[in-house]
Order: sequence, then C-alpha cells, then structure tokens
Amino acid sequence: MATSIPLSQTILVAFLIVTSCIWVFPQVAVATSKHTGVTRHYKFNIRLKNVTRLCHTKSMVTVNGKFPGPRVVAREGDRIIVKVVNHAPNNISIHWHGIRQLQSGWADGPAYITQCPIQTGQSYVYNFTVVGQRGTLLWHAHFQWLRATVYGPLIILPRHNASYPFAKPYKEVTIMLGEWFNADPEAIINQSLQTGNGPNVSEAYTFNGLPGPTYNCSAKDTYKLKVKPGKAYMLRLINTALNDELFFSIANHTLTVVEADATYVKPFETNILVIAPGQTTNVLLKTNPNPPNASFFMLARPYFTGMGTFDNSTVAAILEYETPSQDNSFRNRTLFKPSLPAINDTNFVANFSSKFRSLANAQFPANVPQTVDKRFFFTVSLGANPCPKNQTCQGPNGTKFAAAVNNVSFALPSTALLQSYFFAKSKGVYTADFPQFPLHPFNYTGTPPNNTFVSNGTKALVIPFNTSVELVLQDTSILGAESHPLHLHGYNVYVVGQGFGNFDPKNDPAKFNLIDPVERNTVGVPSGGWVAIRFLADNPGVWFMHCHFDVHLSWGLRMAWIVLDGELPNQKLPPPPSDLPKC
Ligand code: C2O
Repeated sequence: MATSIPLSQTILVAFLIVTSCIWVFPQVAVATSKHTGVTRHYKFNIRLKNVTRLCHTKSMVTVNGKFPGPRVVAREGDRIIVKVVNHAPNNISIHWHGIRQLQSGWADGPAYITQCPIQTGQSYVYNFTVVGQRGTLLWHAHFQWLRATVYGPLIILPRHNASYPFAKPYKEVTIMLGEWFNADPEAIINQSLQTGNGPNVSEAYTFNGLPGPTYNCSAKDTYKLKVKPGKAYMLRLINTALNDELFFSIANHTLTVVEADATYVKPFETNILVIAPGQTTNVLLKTNPNPPNASFFMLARPYFTGMGTFDNSTVAAILEYETPSQDNSFRNRTLFKPSLPAINDTNFVANFSSKFRSLANAQFPANVPQTVDKRFFFTVSLGANPCPKNQTCQGPNGTKFAAAVNNVSFALPSTALLQSYFFAKSKGVYTADFPQFPLHPFNYTGTPPNNTFVSNGTKALVIPFNTSVELVLQDTSILGAESHPLHLHGYNVYVVGQGFGNFDPKNDPAKFNLIDPVERNTVGVPSGGWVAIRFLADNPGVWFMHCHFDVHLSWGLRMAWIVLDGELPNQKLPPPPSDLPKC
C-alpha cells in the first residue's frame, strides 16, 4: 500500500477540521452513524436589536440580530442541533413548528409544557431528528407573544438521492407573511390580559419582515421578487402573523399548490390562497415566457369573521421580471393588482381548504387510521371570566375575554408539564381530567347561551400509546363564530371531514374521506362549523394543542395531551437532557 497515513488518522483529522468550523459556518454538516442523514449545528443568540419600520424604531427580541430570523435548513433524515443562548432580558423558548419530535419531546419548545423557559444568561440545546417529513415548516418563540419578532423558516429538503414529486423548480424562494406592531407586543398582550379587553391590533402586515408601499413611510421597505421569464419558481409560503389568517394572490399569475405543512399534496391550481398562522404551503409559480412590460403586486390581507377589531390593512410586495437593463421600452411599467375575496368570505375558505388532498401514492402513502379506538369531541370557543372585585374590566359586558376548549380555559402551570409527568409529580401542577366531550352540551352554532363564563384549570387528556384517535373540533357562536387554526404539537393529523353548523355524529362520519385526506399540523376549524381529524398516538410525551391565533392562545384556547409510553424500549420517551431549563 502506498498510503503513508492510516485511514483512521485521516478521518480523525478531517473530523477535527470540520467540527472546528461548525459554529462559524452553521450549515456545515457532519456525517454521523446514528441516523440516516447528517447532523446540522446552529447557534441562536437571543438578543435585543433596534429595528425600524413605518418610521418607527423599536428594540425587539431577535435571533442573531436578524428580523425575520435565520433559515434553518436540513434534509429529511438529518439531525438538527440548535444551541440557544439567551442574552435578552426576556425569558424565551423556541418551538420547531410541525417537526414530529419522535421521542424527542424535550426539544419541542412550548414554555411550561415541555420545558421551562430559558432565562436570561442561560442556554439550552435543542436536539432532534427530521423523520419522514420534507417541505416547509417554521420555527418560532413559544413564550408569551415573542413570536411576533422571533421566527424564521425551517426548510426540509428531500434526501440527497430523492426528488420532488414534480419537476424541479428553477429557484426556491421563501415568503413569510408576518405582522408588525409599532408597540412592544409583550406590552400589548399584558395590557389586554389586565383590562380584559381585546389586544391592540398590528399596524401592518409584512412580506419577509417588510410592510411595503401601502403603508406610510414604508415604500423603501418593499419586498421585491425578481424573476426570469419562462421559469418555474417554488414559493415556500409561511404565515407567521400572530392573529390573522391571510388571503394571498399575485396579479396575473396562477399558482400550483404542491405541499402543505411539509407533506406533499395532489397538485391543484389557484389564483388565491388563504393561509392561517402556523400553516405553510409550497406553490409553483410559472413565469410568463416573454417578459411582460409590467410589474405585478403580490397582496395579502386578512380573512376575518369575528366580532372584535382586527388589522384591516393590505400588504403589498412586487413581482418583477428581469429585463435587459438598457431596454428603454421597459420603463414606466404598468403595475397590475390582484383582487382578493371579501374579508369574511367563509365560503371561499371552505372551498379552498377542501381542495387539499394527500398525494396518497406508493411512495407517499396516506396512513389514515381506518379504525378508531377513541372518539373525542371538543368545542373551541371564546368566552369570559368575571371581573375581579375592585377592578373595572373592558371585555364583553364588563368581564374579561377568555377562550376555551370544552369550556376549560387552560391555565399555564408554573413548571413544565412534561417534567411533572415524567417524574410522576403531577400533584399541584395538572389534573388528568380534561373532558372528552362538552360537560353541558348546547346548540353550538345556534343562539349562544346566556352564561358565557369558562372554567379555568390545568387539565390534560391521557391516552395510551398507539391509540387511534378521532377528534371533532366544533366552533361555537359564543361571542361570535370565528375560525380557529388549531395546532397539535408532536403529530400530523389527517383532516377527514369538515362542515358548517353542528357536527352530526349520525350522518357526517359516512362522508369522511379515509382515502386521501390532507395531512397537516395546523387545521382550520371553520367559522360556525366543525372539522374532524384522525391520528395515531404513536409518539409518547406531552403535546400541546392550541389555537394558533396568539390572542386566543393567551386567553386559554389550549390544552395538553399526554401520550403514555408503549411497552417496548423504543416506544418510550427518553429522560430529559441535562441542560433542560429549570423554572
Ligand atoms: Cu407554532 Cu404551539 O405553536
């Protein structure tokens, strides 16, 4: 043999070189043997940063001083390790929204559910593997309203040797639809919880953090997407807004939806999308073969059916064709605007969401539970809490706004549920008596009951490992019918049915789609209607489920599932990492 250096030494040297670069170049990947992919290291420094929009400068909590935050990119099968160091005065935790977290529940992130928040000066390493998922997700802060500024894309590419189930796009572009508040969002929600009134609404919506030309003092902060003619672009759309579902459209261009919540869907065409906070969708945009002498607005504005106030503004970004720079004929381009549905166009939304179907082919099967072990029925609703003595409240009829699941408004504990559960110390933290059905049934979408008070408690619903669950989520007309994007942590669910009015347990199940229902992590409960989902509880741990409108989340529209360990060693939740934050 001619080699003078033994192979093992070569590997060691290479390993040292690579690992020493990890923190400097966060996307350097190191091959390991424990899983099918590589390990990708990221470092999130949580710190304050001054950011100016709408001529308004504020100090905000950011990751690495970036707004929006940095991209996290991995391939299916990779391990992601993110060291989060908190240099900000606020406590914080980070959630990897949509990641299944199979047996890695300690890395899920919701504060007081799977971990205590990371305090100032402390750090925590999130360590998880991407299993059986590919597409677009997001990460965001999961403590109070910090996700208003602390969010970013979480992009899962197919495995190296795998391809998309559609022609490879020429380019991929991430578009995050967000919300800008001139005031500190933490102050806004604290004030609202104090007075009982609805929180102040945002000043603007944003494309990738930029409010654009429809707002005062904002034209210079406009997102522009420059495209070449005759190409296919894949837009990774993410709704990171706090409290608003958004319609989205690009003038004179048709979009093909190919993926939702990091699962492929049967492609369908549309000019307009509606996307709820926490939802993600990949769409293909084919540009015109000849560069038109025009620019095209991309617009987004809310879909809203509630009774309260909301930010009724429209945000714009620009789709622009690259043209030969010397060509004068392209000066003074016409600017086309798309038209969007009416603010409260619930029929559009219902019709749009019914178009999503799983690919359900041999390579990407839809593993819909065909039989059900446990059926649950949850109302999701607004409600009220009485005004404390010696205080005046500004909520409905002098009360305080609240929100609930099965009329239980979930109170956050002062320590993390997962820890209390794992170490069998639930006493004084939570009770395992979350109601499986409404305790006092009523005509949910009819005339609302006179008593709109919720009950308050920290209640979990405990189910055995591998329970096949069917859950119907029913909106109510208490304080106004409203749609609710319900997000379940730790799982994707199959959306087997939806409808308006009250769910009919006799006739509706016969219409369920058990063949190719869409698989999502955030499901819209229709305004004045219901949605039915199924999932197999194959991931042990404590899993938060809540409305992804932060205002409803703060008001208590949240609950926790506890999925017990299975018998086999690989069906159990491992013990927590040693750096798990303490409360
Ligand atoms: Cu994206 Cu519990 O949230």
